[in-house]
Amino acid sequence: MKHSITSIVSGAPVAGAPGGRVDSTNPARISEVVAQVSLGDAGTFVAAARAARDAQPAWADVPAPVRGRAIAQIGRVVEANAESLARLVTREIGKPYAEALGEVREIVDTCDFFLGEGRRLYGQTVPSEMPDKQLFTFRNPVGVVAVITAGNFPVAVPSWYLIPALLCGNAVVWKPADYSPACGAALFDLIVRGGGLPDGVLNLVLADGETTFAGLEQALDGGLVDKVGFTGSSAVGAQIGELTGRHLQSACLELGGKNPMVVTPSADLDLAVEAALFSGFGTAGQRCTSLGTVIVHDSVHDDFVARLDSVVRRAAVGDPFSDVVFGPMLDEKFADRFEDYLGWIQPHHTVLGSTATGRITAANPRDGFVGDPDAGVFCHPTIVDGLRGDDAIFRNETFGPLVGVTTYGDLPEAIGLANAPGYGLSSSIYTREPAEVFAFRRGISAGMVSVNNSTSGAEAHLPFGGNGKSGNGSRQSGIWVLDQFTRWQSMNWDYSGKLQKAQMDVAELIGDMSFRLAD
Ligand code: UN1
Repeated sequence: MKHSITSIVSGAPVAGAPGGRVDSTNPARISEVVAQVSLGDAGTFVAAARAARDAQPAWADVPAPVRGRAIAQIGRVVEANAESLARLVTREIGKPYAEALGEVREIVDTCDFFLGEGRRLYGQTVPSEMPDKQLFTFRNPVGVVAVITAGNFPVAVPSWYLIPALLCGNAVVWKPADYSPACGAALFDLIVRGGGLPDGVLNLVLADGETTFAGLEQALDGGLVDKVGFTGSSAVGAQIGELTGRHLQSACLELGGKNPMVVTPSADLDLAVEAALFSGFGTAGQRCTSLGTVIVHDSVHDDFVARLDSVVRRAAVGDPFSDVVFGPMLDEKFADRFEDYLGWIQPHHTVLGSTATGRITAANPRDGFVGDPDAGVFCHPTIVDGLRGDDAIFRNETFGPLVGVTTYGDLPEAIGLANAPGYGLSSSIYTREPAEVFAFRRGISAGMVSVNNSTSGAEAHLPFGGNGKSGNGSRQSGIWVLDQFTRWQSMNWDYSGKLQKAQMDVAELIGDMSFRLAD
């Protein structure tokens, strides 16, 4: 089925295509158009923010437990549509179907968590330092939230923003990735219709990145946006951080990663290899949590690399509706950029993992490819062994099916190498030594640490986010994201009938500080 989609502002499809018309195609079969898309312009973004501004006060007045019911219904309707939504994810961005089902599951998990939060959203009652006075805290919605998301998780990661933002009483403008608009439109419908949301509480803007940035800037200048959530590259995240900083706002930023996996001498090598395959090459290496560099102890390097090379060579790659480790790149532009990263390979590197590097085609084949490589945008999995600390491949995120390998002598050296690129999203250590686990946890800059598990695959109710080039310390998911979408308000209530001055009219108990026990 071919979808025809457009931006939706205040419940109404935006007429015309002020930003032009484009097709969203299936990256596994480029000739297949998944959706015909009418794009908005900067004005569309501003209109959406204004609609959200208008709708937000009434939405905040809906009791939080009732908003929680809306989230419950969204979870159930997503569950009832799980297979068709997963199929759309596979068609539009090429994620293997089993993984796409997992991605949809992550939305349901997120709804399951936040439906109950509608009956909590706890504030506190706090004792005052004076009699006949009581202190309280309340969580208030921030107001209008602008959410701009990537297409590698075209529905799950957006739900990490949209579901808690709505639950907390905010209205939202959402701009999905320009290469996953059909997934965006589908999730929008499921949320609005499943939740029974009033018009304008959630608005959808389909636009390219530059237009979105211009629209966001105008909306911020116009005082129409109070909070920005952004998932994408570190470079764009820095621009968003700069823009929101000028408006005294702190964006929720979920950016790139160069996620290390340390393989120690005591590691179960088969487990570590299995995890390196999944986290390095699953989703064609296009998760922000994908494995970047394996930092393997000198003593097990040769054995580890031989085993990894063997499983990667045998891994099924191709048609994402078949049982494959990975399918196509998300979109042509990611394949082009991946080829640039391959240009960073140096003579001192050893390249392993496939029959060739770069695009998989009939002329540049991969053994055992599933399907027709020329129909889509597929890339060879690539292991680059022998990385050195100043190599571009070691220092930068290489979004795509590429895993680097380097070696270490002692754990402090491994931790130093793991932190050196300056990202700090996810990390992993394979060891049987508890002391190594805790030394790694303490030393690693990452927001997320896996022990004997892959760098990817975080559960949906733990704090998700990074440090350094991976983000500004904001955290999504679970109770922690509530601090992104609410503002604490403190209230004091004095019912003593007089003005009691804090710090001044406070009773004092006089203790005898010279008191000592007799020996
Ligand atoms: C992302 O790539 O932006 O932890 C998110 C994981 C997934 C989410 C990845 N649950 O790999």
